[in-house]
Amino acid sequence: MRKPQLEPMSGAPDRVTIYEVGARDGLQNEKSLVPVEVKAEFVRRLLGAGLETVEITSFVSPRWVPQLADAAELVSSLGELALGTHRPVLVPNEKGLDRALDLGVSSVAIFGSATETFAARNLSSTVLDQFTMFEPVAKRAKDDGLWLRAYVSMCFGDPWEGDVPVDQVADVCRRMMDLGADQLSLGDTIGVATPGHVGRLLEALDARGIATDQIAVHFHDTYGQALANALEAIRLGVRTIDASAGGLGGCPYARSATGNLATEDLVWALHGMGVETGVDLERLVATSVWMSEQLGRPSPSRVVKALSGE
Ligand code: HMG
Ligand code: MG
Repeated sequence: MRKPQLEPMSGAPDRVTIYEVGARDGLQNEKSLVPVEVKAEFVRRLLGAGLETVEITSFVSPRWVPQLADAAELVSSLGELALGTHRPVLVPNEKGLDRALDLGVSSVAIFGSATETFAARNLSSTVLDQFTMFEPVAKRAKDDGLWLRAYVSMCFGDPWEGDVPVDQVADVCRRMMDLGADQLSLGDTIGVATPGHVGRLLEALDARGIATDQIAVHFHDTYGQALANALEAIRLGVRTIDASAGGLGGCPYARSATGNLATEDLVWALHGMGVETGVDLERLVATSVWMSEQLGRPSPSRVVKALSGE
């Protein structure tokens, strides 16, 4: 399989961590239920392709996200493979945390909103009340020695509210980090961010004492900007990039949210620049081709299309 020509880029880091969200963000929006065995096989193949950090599923209300109602079954069927610091699951509330802890999960993610409309639509909450919901989850997670990620959605724009002020986003990020999170993931839920905007938000976070090494970026690719934004974040010091194999993804509660940055597109760019990811691109493309067969439609990733059509 073709590889990018290696031309190291000055100033690029030696290594970037890919935080793979295909099994969670990628599948949560699928209309028809994906069998739990297919999800388990997807996770196994992602791990087999060298991805170290793989988000497994969400322990959310099954009424809100029916696709992930099988979260416990999935974690149980994967056994040890689904456990450990590098296998986070989403938990919005204590009920979700209890369900995850019962299975031995040791890495969880809470997910807040920078805007009122999305807080209402995604969490049935307000921006202020979401912190009250997360507080006991974060406290118990940290007391139990769990690794804790805090997502913030609508960091770069909101489908109902339009532009979202950078200071408003940065304030929500600060409050999420004050809950004790180990990592903050900046969600461009509807894929509208541009590179200058990424820089502005990172500056605002720096001014609030959030170090770049605590930050991950999570770009959806609606406007085709995800890779450009990810590379800009890396140039500015971010070392963890969220991506989804084959570019699967979307949020059932955000109109116009399409797939995430495709992991293959990111890996192609990084390997060409001489940045290590630990990923075997050939095995990853084969995984996405297999997954697109399961879902009955081709992957939107340009790199998957190019390499699988060779
Ligand atoms: P609510 O309806 O206000 O909650 O929803 P509730 O406490 O009234 O409970 C309603 C029912 O759900 C009850 O069941 C609860 O027991 C049950 P009933 O008594 O009616 O049978 N329930 C649960 N069941 C299992 N696990 C739980 C749980 N919690 C309650 N954890 C709630 C509030 C937060 C629960 C709901 O809004 C919810 O689950 N939201 C999650 C939505 C979601 O998963 N969205 C996608 C993930 S976020 C995302 O994709 C963005 C991201 O990728 C970053 C980006 O791109 O920006 C992360
Ligand atoms: Mg997302």
